[in-house]
Amino acid sequence: MRRCQRDFAADHSGEVAQYIPELGKADPDHFGIAVATIDGHVYEAGDTDVPFTIQSISKAGVFALALDLLGPDRVEASIGVEPSGEAFNSIRLRPDNRPFNAMVNTGAIACCGLIATAEGDGTFELIRATLSRLAGRDLVVDEAVFQSERTTGDRNRAIAYLLRTYGGVAGDVDRLLDIYFRQCSVLVTARDLAVMGASLANQGVNPLTGIRVFSSYAVARTLAVMSSSGMYDFAGEWIYRVGVPAKSGVGGGILAALPSQLGLGTFSPRLDQHGNSVRGIKTCEAMSEAFDLHML
Ligand code: DON
Repeated sequence: MRRCQRDFAADHSGEVAQYIPELGKADPDHFGIAVATIDGHVYEAGDTDVPFTIQSISKAGVFALALDLLGPDRVEASIGVEPSGEAFNSIRLRPDNRPFNAMVNTGAIACCGLIATAEGDGTFELIRATLSRLAGRDLVVDEAVFQSERTTGDRNRAIAYLLRTYGGVAGDVDRLLDIYFRQCSVLVTARDLAVMGASLANQGVNPLTGIRVFSSYAVARTLAVMSSSGMYDFAGEWIYRVGVPAKSGVGGGILAALPSQLGLGTFSPRLDQHGNSVRGIKTCEAMSEAFDLHML
């Protein structure tokens, strides 16, 4: 193990997300790092109890939920598993009109739609309860962020309408997007992300509560898509340099899950041009190097 002595707190590069106005109010200097092991130990440094919205990190949990709820055949018929190589909010679909994968907005909205066809009005509560079990505590929605994204989320609305023309989603687009915007607005901390990561690393069983959240099948498939697509058009660099399946969110969080070992959660709101946390990426690179976490 090499000691890591780099001072990432001094790195002020990147910008807090502004396209959802409420996210722009985040304190850019917040910085938290947490690690949770699959035998239930949690290690924390910095702002690990500061709440922020989970945003796209929710996509990993919702994909695993869809796999368990509807089965892989149904999910794969609607959503691909190929990296898109494009921005998270790209409107482009595969040549067969399916979203590239469930980690980008097109796939996440389709995934949400799949669950909604099965669960109807109970969809958001099922998503919230599932993310809560993954974190081991009851998670709530930041209503201000939800309203802010709902007011300004025309690009996601355009994606949902496009999907509906191909049968990728059905029914009322605004109702579906309310579920998606709410899932993105669930409040978590860096500690929660570490525990959620540890639950994924532990084949779907939360190591703190002992409760099974997902099947090991769903977890393996979800970690596979996180490896190839969790960091958007930085996914190749990420898996090359860090070597741990991960998912980022524009709230400034990164969740990484090293199978059979640990979950890592970071929070720092300044983002790079891909929408990934600048300090979060540097921290994960340094941790991977210092603790030899690269899977390969
Ligand atoms: O759909 C959106 O634009 C946001 N609610 C989530 C985007 C996101 O977190 C992308 N991540 N880095």
